[in-house]
Amino acid sequence: MEDIKKVNADRLFERILKLANIGKVGDAGTHRFALTNIDKEAQTLVTKWMEEAGMKVRNDDFGNLIGKKEGRDLDLPSIVIGSHIDTVPNGGRFDGVIGVLGGIEVVDSININEVQHDYSIEVIAFCDEEGSRFSDGLFGSRGMVGLISTDDLKAKDESGKSRFEALQDMGLNPKKIQKSVRNKEEIKCFLEMHIEQGPYLEEQNKPIGIVEGIAGPSWLKIRIEGIAGHAGTVPMNLRRDPMVGASEAVVEIERICKSDLTGSLVGTVGKIKAFPNGKNVIPNAVEFILDIRDIDLKRKNDSIQQIEDRIQYICKKRKLNASVEKLQEVEPVKCSTKIVNTLQESNEELNFDAPLMLSGAGHDSMYMSQITDVGMIFVRSKDGISHNPKEWSSKEDIEKGVLVLLKTVHKLADS
Ligand code: GLV
Ligand code: MN
Ligand code: MN
Repeated sequence: MEDIKKVNADRLFERILKLANIGKVGDAGTHRFALTNIDKEAQTLVTKWMEEAGMKVRNDDFGNLIGKKEGRDLDLPSIVIGSHIDTVPNGGRFDGVIGVLGGIEVVDSININEVQHDYSIEVIAFCDEEGSRFSDGLFGSRGMVGLISTDDLKAKDESGKSRFEALQDMGLNPKKIQKSVRNKEEIKCFLEMHIEQGPYLEEQNKPIGIVEGIAGPSWLKIRIEGIAGHAGTVPMNLRRDPMVGASEAVVEIERICKSDLTGSLVGTVGKIKAFPNGKNVIPNAVEFILDIRDIDLKRKNDSIQQIEDRIQYICKKRKLNASVEKLQEVEPVKCSTKIVNTLQESNEELNFDAPLMLSGAGHDSMYMSQITDVGMIFVRSKDGISHNPKEWSSKEDIEKGVLVLLKTVHKLADS
């Protein structure tokens, strides 16, 4: 079949910037948490773009937004393209968004060129990939592959609203989530284009890359308890201050993760709370979330054990108590060799010279890999910056990513 060689990169880039205005907080980036009114506004705009590209659009009961362009043979499974449109607190404009809007662009190019494939093509904006609002993320993709339990719907946001209620707020029926689970027979493969969110492609001077494997994040809530007291009266040597214990723990986390010479183990503490959180009060408890990742599952698990042992040691020394709760655990994932090969073929035909690489960030592809073959294309991130309002990828680089996506869909949609 005749190849399709063009996408409308100007329109795609305009759309990316336009979507970023929904939830924009001045100069402080875009703050668009899942299942909020802002998220709904964003979904409405994306729905309009999906419809303009000739897709039938629906929401499933996990809050995923799904557009479908029907193929010639409705008995065949769909080729699915997707990512997410929710953001981290004060996030950037490109994370997740380029995979969804890039997918719509692919479908639009196919339509404009009046190409009809055997396979249907779906574009999905997954609900709550980031996990910014509730205790864990990758919600929509986890749900779609059948891994969401009723317990996951009990998770509450900081205002006390449960996921169950938040789904209802969007007009969805969380009692019926099981009907939204997809099976292996319905999906031929899953393709996700995403910004790299790290410095590798820029260092290599390459606009795009092809992902071979994705590191699995684990999130642990660590609570250290001590004794509250008056900041002016309790002598230093009589304190049982959990803030100092937590500080020592954070430094140990850095030491342990830095001791991995491959550089693939990374640990971050980005969220911390003191209780009762008073300026002149020695806290009675401190809670922080550890985000730890590695492409090597054993090394990640061994490091978590080492960190937990060190925290117990620190707490014993300081007469504090520590408890650790696992909020989320995702295993590292290898992309499908078949899809990686097809992406490489497309890349070679387009002369883009995309290297094979690994993903340090987590993606919906990780869960989609449980029911189908997955492949990812990365687009260069300026200065490797992401989860930051300064996040930037150029129109030209994104266009190359979409062209590889388009060519790959074209190859897979009739074979
Ligand atoms: C998603 O951005 C993640 O890797 O945390
Ligand atoms: Mn992200
Ligand atoms: Mn993302």
